[in-house]
Amino acid sequence: MTESTPHATGSTTQAGIPAVSDRNSLTTGPNGSIVLHDHQLVETLQHFNRMNIPERRPHAKGAGAFGTFEVTEDVSQWTKADFLQPGKKTEMLARFSTVAGELGSPDTWRDVRGFALKFYTEEGNFDMVGNNTPIFFVRDPMKFPHFIRSQKRLPDSGLRDGTMQWDFWTNNPESAHQVTYLMGERGLPKTWRHMNGYGSHTYMLVNAEGEKFWVKWHFESRQGVESLSNEEAERLAGADGDVHRRDLFEAIERGEYPKWDLYFQIMPYEEAKTYRFNPFDLTKTWSKKDYPRHKVGTMTLNRNPENFFAQIEQAAFSPANMVPGTGNSPDKMLLGRTFAYADAQLYRVGTNFQQLPVNRPINEVHTYNFEGSMTYHHSGARRVYAPNSFGDSWSDETGPVDNGWEDDGALVREAYTLRQDDDDFGQPGTLIREVFNDAQRARFVQTVAGALDGVAEPVLSNAFQYWKNVDENIGQRIEEAVKSNAASPEVPGMGVDEDPTSNSEISE
Ligand code: HEM
Repeated sequence: MTESTPHATGSTTQAGIPAVSDRNSLTTGPNGSIVLHDHQLVETLQHFNRMNIPERRPHAKGAGAFGTFEVTEDVSQWTKADFLQPGKKTEMLARFSTVAGELGSPDTWRDVRGFALKFYTEEGNFDMVGNNTPIFFVRDPMKFPHFIRSQKRLPDSGLRDGTMQWDFWTNNPESAHQVTYLMGERGLPKTWRHMNGYGSHTYMLVNAEGEKFWVKWHFESRQGVESLSNEEAERLAGADGDVHRRDLFEAIERGEYPKWDLYFQIMPYEEAKTYRFNPFDLTKTWSKKDYPRHKVGTMTLNRNPENFFAQIEQAAFSPANMVPGTGNSPDKMLLGRTFAYADAQLYRVGTNFQQLPVNRPINEVHTYNFEGSMTYHHSGARRVYAPNSFGDSWSDETGPVDNGWEDDGALVREAYTLRQDDDDFGQPGTLIREVFNDAQRARFVQTVAGALDGVAEPVLSNAFQYWKNVDENIGQRIEEAVKSNAASPEVPGMGVDEDPTSNSEISE
């Protein structure tokens, strides 16, 4: 039920009964006490106290819009997914966010940005919950809560803390690639419209013949990739903390619909076994020379939410939402995420969060999960068990799953086995030396030096070594900048990222 149109004949209580007054409580005389049986007052105060739901633990601050995804090419050789077949158009929802900040935090704090998409396909909801960077800070889900806590607030003062952030990063050197992106221009996008989106993980595709492929999803902004300078971001954090939320909403109101082109980087199934980098390591990219990109289609955001709370705050994205023809991979992070999101949403939104209009699939739901708090859609007197003898269908596939992989061995707690070119510092070093230009490198040194301001020993020395491991020269420059207090906020104006990685060896 929506109540968006003004009502001409007064208001009602939540039970729909004509309400008496939205302005005056019921009192014993104009100057007397309020009475407990003023149900309208009681209901008003009670509901007000329950307006909030818990904010998302990471990615609390964000906003989004609805749109359409249209397949413009033929990618059926790699996937049988119905919504990825030629010419198909699918309604969708996008939500962009910062990671570490809370609900009211400024949009322009330096951070990775979330890029979460929900496709309402005829085979159920498919979610691609990515970021504006092609990689991530860690490669084992056990580390994720530690990582997020280190980027949030100290337990005593409630303050964010550089020492804690750098202590986590330097103790987890696999973070170097993502921290290099974060301290570069991707860490301060000009708007959400001016950033690319990446699935980041390696996912699977399966075609109609049952052949399997590994895939990276890249959404390239048609608006271009542009970033803010440190000073502009800092100014906006004070002047308009909601600048990115505002920008997206107003652009769509003006009819300027932002667009992104989707590309697939495809790796044949067997090649994953011998590729020189572990293709399931989320801190690594695949070289575009090894695996060029193939266009798939275009996503256009063209409809603002009518109600932020109902359609954005209650929106629930999950990497577990995969449709036939798609799948996940042995990436440990992705497998951890497959559990984490729905669990968060059961707590944050409620047992039946998938029944809410924004989360509900467009196709028929025929699940054997029933009831629970706030059940809205029900299945009448349907059989509540399977198998049953009364014709109510259930699923019963056996044997190998079509989107699986070979997995065998003793249970262990160990890091991934290293491949020929696997290390923590190689790809970030290449990013700095071969992708950044001189001006970008200079800004990078300033930004890192600024972020190291006030960081305590021994973390500060560890951070110098971390950057020297990435690149001796850049580490030296960072150390000098910090030591000579040259971490001046005077960084040249708005950066325009020419997307120097477009044909690069190190890909994105
Ligand atoms: C093991 C690693 C990770 C865990 C356990 C994890 C967990 C979570 C949880 C619990 C939420 C909140 C969900 C909600 O309340 O609705 C969330 C949000 C989010 N995460 Fe992760 N995350 C992980 C890694 C990643 C990675 C690698 C990416 C991107 C490639 C990512 C992108 C996002 C985005 C975009 C959101 C916001 C979704 C929205 O807009 O509602 N996360 N994450």
